[in-house]
Formats: sequence, C-alpha cells, structure tokens
Amino acid sequence: HPPNLQMEESAGLRRANCRAKGAAPGFKVAILGAAGGIGQPLALLMKINPLVSVLHLYDVVNTPGVTADISHMDTGAVVRGFLGQPQLEEALVGMDLVIIPAGVPRKPGMTRDDLFKINAGIVRTLCEGIAKSCPKAIVNLISNPVNSTVPIAAEVFKKAGTYDPKRLLGVTTLDVVRANTFVAEVLGLDPREVDVPVVGGHAGVTILPLLSQVKPPCSFTPPEIDYLTSRIQNGGTEVVEAKAGAGSATLSMAYASVKFADACLRGLRGDAGIVECAFVASQVTELPFFASKVRLGRTGAEEVLPLGPLNEYERAGLEKAKQELAESIQKGVSFIKK
Ligand code: NAD
Ligand code: LMR
Repeated sequence: HPPNLQMEESAGLRRANCRAKGAAPGFKVAILGAAGGIGQPLALLMKINPLVSVLHLYDVVNTPGVTADISHMDTGAVVRGFLGQPQLEEALVGMDLVIIPAGVPRKPGMTRDDLFKINAGIVRTLCEGIAKSCPKAIVNLISNPVNSTVPIAAEVFKKAGTYDPKRLLGVTTLDVVRANTFVAEVLGLDPREVDVPVVGGHAGVTILPLLSQVKPPCSFTPPEIDYLTSRIQNGGTEVVEAKAGAGSATLSMAYASVKFADACLRGLRGDAGIVECAFVASQVTELPFFASKVRLGRTGAEEVLPLGPLNEYERAGLEKAKQELAESIQKGVSFIKK
C-alpha cells in the first residue's frame, strides 16, 4: 500500500477495535471477483451494510483502485483489497461469508452453460482457497452456470474434507426479485408487497416460478401465467440482449446478492424466521441439488422447505426443469471427479 492507504487502513482498524469494545456485532465478508460488473456495486452495498465489520475485496485485476475508492465511504466496515492468486489465501482467512461473482458473463446468443468452460476452473480455484483458509464460511455462489458451479464447489469441498451442505448456497435471488417485479406490474401492486417463490435452478426452463403460491394470494389468467413464466425465465437474456455485448445483469444482481447476503448474515446472527430461495443440496426432489425456500440460521441453510402444492402447469414445468438440471449437475460433478 502507499502510505496514505496504510494510514487509512490503520485508522479503520482503530475504529473497528473501538466498535468491538462497544459490542456492535460485525461479520467478516469477502467478495471474490470484486472489481467486476457485479463485484463493484456489490462491494459498495456491502460497505453500507451495518452487519459487516470487515470487507475483503479480491480480484485478479483492479482491486487496488476499487478498494481505495470504496474505503473512502464513511460507513463502518473496514475495507481491504487483495490482488491476484498469491493473495487469495490472505483475502479469505477468518471470513464468515464469501460471495463469489467471479467469472465471465454472457454475450447475446450464449447460454449460461456456454460459460462453463471458463468459469468452472475459476470456481474450482476459488473454492480450493476457501477450503484451505475459511472452511467454516458460508459461501454465496453467483458465478454461472450456477446449476453446475454449485455441484463443482460441493465436490471441491468434499475432496478437501470440508463440505457442509448447509454452508454452500447458489444465489437465485435475482429470479425472485424479477418475479416480484413482473408480478407486481401485472397486479398493479408495489413490488415490495409481493412474494413469489421461484424454485428449480438458475437457467432457462429450470427457473420455475410458483405463481399459484404468490403472496398476497391472487389469481392469473392462462395468458398472464404464460407471459409471467416466460418473462421470469428469460429475464437474464432480456438484460444480455439490451446490453448488446457489454455483459449481463450487474446492478440488479448486486442488489439481489446483497438482499441474500444480508439474509445470510441475519441468520448467522441468530435472527429467527429468515427464509429465502436458494440453490442448495436438497432432498425436495430426487436431484442432489435444487432451488427452493430455505430457512437460514446460525449454521447456514438449516432447513430446506418443501415445495408446497403445485398446480398442473407447475408440475409440467417441474418435470422439464428436472431433466435439464440433472444434466447440468452431472456436468459439474464430473468436472471435478474426472
Ligand atoms: P465481469 O466480467 O464484469 O466481472 C467478473 C470479474 O471476475 C472480473 O473483475 C474478473 O477480473 C474477475 N475474475 C475472473 N477470474 C477470476 C479469478 N480467477 N479470481 C477472481 N476474480 C476473477 O462479470 P459480471 O457481470 O460481474 O458477472 C460475473 C458472473 O456472475 C458471470 O459468470 C455471470 O454470468 C454471473 N451472474 C450470475 C447471476 C446470478 O443470478 N447468479 C446474475 C448475474 C450474473
Ligand atoms: C441473470 O440471470 O441475469 C444472470 O444469470 C446472467 C445471465 O447470463 O443471464
């Protein structure tokens, strides 16, 4: 660090020590891929989160600049930057929560699975670091294809002997955020009042909104159901096409990621009744991983909640989702096992 950064950091540490005496609880959070399109706004939002006392920003490029910038915000969290693989271990030691938005995003015409080739290896390396440096941390995995990267992470942790299914969560919150927004538009409600469970996975037909379970209770016409299901399943592609080659959702994703990370931290703190959808190890279907509502607690995803009653439309959607999911999960598992 240049001297002024060192001084800021030590001033930050003094503040953190003072606060520690005052007993405000804070968690240590690392973002891997912190200089990216998601990483930067995510770092900004985590710096504002009062539950975060220490924020580590890791990337293979540009973290010094992002860290210097974010560290000037007059909020509580102490920010430290880490650049490149040799600093990965240091970035991870002592972390309670690790959020991973590292990896390449889609361009128009690509599926999320087209990202597997590059992102699978990135996720493997980062998870090896987690297994070594903070095996007890909760992991929020954002890198696509989530339906395969979560099984990859699980296999890496199994190999290292650190796997705890409760602590590995694939982030599907953006599907819920989109579903709430689009359903609220159709119903003429404030999206903050709407809750749509979205289950399955995070790609195309594996994204299964349960419109029969929307809160507040409501009903839709068959054309509304077709429109909403398709819009929610293709929300990512809608953004990829609008960005026309400049990447995929970053701002709404940073918002969604913070919503989910905050729920994980409140769970870790011991708050009761924290329920969010996530892609986790699951016995809700015959597949080893599935996204559904989970109850978050002191040890992560403490309970995977049942799907609840599905109508005929949703049962048909579930069958389609399971077929694609089975292949994506297997692809992730074999990447590590081969
Ligand atoms: P981006 O290219 O803007 O940023 C990715 C960052 O990852 C870059 O800063 C890059 O340097 C970094 N990176 C690359 N290799 C790395 C490594 N080995 N270690 C650490 N960092 C590394 O991309 P983005 O728009 O931020 O998207 C990131 C990922 O998130 C993509 O895979 C995208 O598909 C996915 N995504 C997922 C969701 C979801 O709902 N789960 C939503 C949006 C995007
Ligand atoms: C999304 O849903 O926006 C992300 O998975 C990014 C993408 O490729 O669509």
